[in-house]
Amino acid sequence: MQVGIDKIGLFTPNKYVDMVDLAHARNQDPNKFLIGIGQSEMSVADQTQDAVSMGINATMKYIDRIDKDKVGLLVLGTESGIDQSKSASLFVKTALKLKPEVRTFEVKEACFGLTAAVMIARDFVRVHPDQTAIVIGSDIARYGVNTGGEVTQGAGSVSMLIKADPKILALNDGHSAYSEDINDFWRPNASRVAMVDGKYSTQVYLDFFKKTFNDYKKQKNLETSAFDAIVYHLPFTKMGLKANRIAVEDQDQAVTENLETSFEASKQLSRRVGNIYTASLYMSLLSLLENGNLAAGSLIGLFSYGSGAMGEFYSGSLVEGYEKEIDQIKDQAMLDHRKKLTISEYEDVFNTALEDPEDGVVLESDDKEGTWYFAGTQGHVRQYKVK
Ligand code: HMG
Repeated sequence: MQVGIDKIGLFTPNKYVDMVDLAHARNQDPNKFLIGIGQSEMSVADQTQDAVSMGINATMKYIDRIDKDKVGLLVLGTESGIDQSKSASLFVKTALKLKPEVRTFEVKEACFGLTAAVMIARDFVRVHPDQTAIVIGSDIARYGVNTGGEVTQGAGSVSMLIKADPKILALNDGHSAYSEDINDFWRPNASRVAMVDGKYSTQVYLDFFKKTFNDYKKQKNLETSAFDAIVYHLPFTKMGLKANRIAVEDQDQAVTENLETSFEASKQLSRRVGNIYTASLYMSLLSLLENGNLAAGSLIGLFSYGSGAMGEFYSGSLVEGYEKEIDQIKDQAMLDHRKKLTISEYEDVFNTALEDPEDGVVLESDDKEGTWYFAGTQGHVRQYKVK
């Protein structure tokens, strides 16, 4: 029995910053951001969007096309948690009107969180083939105004349905995992912004890629040429470009061109949305499916990296007819319809969102009708509403 991704939905908030504007404001050459980092825009979450609301909005993209009664598991990976105790997934479950029998919880290991959820869901569906699982990654990447990491911020969520006989990507058996207790990036409880040893984090990312990719190929007795595409966790697109260069360094022209072309397709969404931590790898996958022209049966490698640090490489095979399950036009429209912020507007929105609203204050969303949002707290209980 094959188990894998049957549905996928992306959500990003309705505001963005143009990297050329940001470069001018920070006295940088725009090409550093556009080429050196490889980002052209970044989505910005205002106070009304958080890990819960974005996760609901991503799942809403496909919820009407699934049998809700079959969902037996809902796992939300995030490092932008909204409570130290209660799982963000419970708020999502209520909004989605899932049955009370669903098993639901939150997982955390930096950007690896959604891959952890995918693996849990894959094994759950193997044991319970008549049930399905919803897995969500939902995050706001925050380093702070005028910091080195500012250009690598972003906000958004990817939600997927994991199911037997999937319509998009059948997940292959096996994986290669590697972990080490290091301090490349972390966020202490009292801080809304991440702390990072930026250059070190990029070296560890590449080191973990080499380890897990080589180990996976060895385990499965595969050559690099067996992969039609490799998708990467993209904290910024240049990071994936560097990993992809490593993947093709000993390959002939045909393999190199193939993996370079698919990498180009996989980075398009990330270039405009920015880092969405847990969901970034799966946004790369969606971008590849929307822009890549891959044939059914294509083998896709997935490299997941979460600071702290955890790396994992695994693979999946594209299912016949996968194109019918994605909607590039709608995703493009969501990005195109975002409001461009001036840098001072962005700084205001960003800094306001670092604080919780005073208890009892009701927040309103300026997003379009049908969007779920955080409406403030009542008696310190978070309220979620749909516009
Ligand atoms: P920086 O000091 O701003 O940048 O830090 P730089 O000076 O290293 O320059 C970046 C690149 O731009 C360089 O290219 C320059 O040559 C180039 P490279 O050597 O890398 O190929 N450059 C130019 N190119 C064209 N025209 C120009 C120009 N000027 C310079 N005029 C850094 C960059 C990424 C370190 C910083 O933004 C940062 O700390 N970001 C946050 C950390 C991060 O994203 N780390 C990624 C790996 S860790 C990870 O992926 C996990 C994470 O997602 C968190 C999680 O797991 O939860 C972050």
